[in-house]
Amino acid sequence: MSTSRHTVAVIGGTGPQGKGLGYRFARHGHDIVLGSRAAGKASAVADEVNARLVSVAGAGTARGAANADAVASADVVLLAVPYDGHDELVASLQLAGKTVISCVNPLAFDKRGAHGRVVNGGEGSAAESAQALQPEAVVVGAFHNVAAPALWGDEEFLDEDVIVVGDSVEGKQVAIDLAASVTGRPGVDGGKLRLARVLEPFTAVLISINRKYKTHSGIRVTGLDH
Ligand SMILES: NC(=O)c1ccc[n+]([C@@H]2O[C@H](COP(=O)([O-])OP(=O)(O)OC[C@H]3O[C@@H](n4cnc5c(N)ncnc54)[C@H](OP(=O)(O)O)[C@@H]3O)[C@@H](O)[C@H]2O)c1
Repeated sequence: MSTSRHTVAVIGGTGPQGKGLGYRFARHGHDIVLGSRAAGKASAVADEVNARLVSVAGAGTARGAANADAVASADVVLLAVPYDGHDELVASLQLAGKTVISCVNPLAFDKRGAHGRVVNGGEGSAAESAQALQPEAVVVGAFHNVAAPALWGDEEFLDEDVIVVGDSVEGKQVAIDLAASVTGRPGVDGGKLRLARVLEPFTAVLISINRKYKTHSGIRVTGLDH
């Protein structure tokens, strides 16, 4: 499992994706601080997470805080907020020196279903925007293609892989290690940060699959000897 114990601040930790990932990290020994624009809302969600951790041997701790306070107490920051308002929020946080993991998917929905939004004229992604806004942070992309309902479900590990992209080997290793809390095996190094342009909109395909087959699909990478 993970080599280091992290304190992970989850920005947007009251939503299903942040709550679910935070729960998985805490279940496997990391400490999490669920962030919110309203600290009380985050504390209530942390109570829900803690209720699921009481009987888990070796679990880490979970608590709630305002987003900025959550960041201050963490070495790793997970961005789990909607793309709308993402840039303003990221710019407002003190992220210098932190490892920042973005699972943000810029998606839109119309009568033909989900589709990826164009970021920076097709030459960008939410993760790259976060890096540009916070040049002294190490931003990586991961967990884009993991479905929130599965994270909050009862399966010990999800039968899928987490693909991690980033320009820092050390930053990617943090997400690769944390991925083991979700899948039971390390995340897969998927290359440079700009490839978040592929991972983010790909979730639209998974949403289409989910609708067609009434499931929570994920990605499994073949050809690897884990
Ligand atoms: N849901 C999934 O299955 C899934 C899967 C993969 C990736 N993702 C990605 O993960 C991210 C979070 O997904 P989600 O479904 O958990 O989202 P969500 O429920 O819509 O939002 C998560 C939290 O973000 C905060 N928030 C909302 N608007 C905000 C704004 N303008 N500024 C600051 N904070 C705001 C809210 O927390 P407070 O009100 O408490 O501040 C909210 O509870 C998205 O980018 C999504 O694309 C989701």
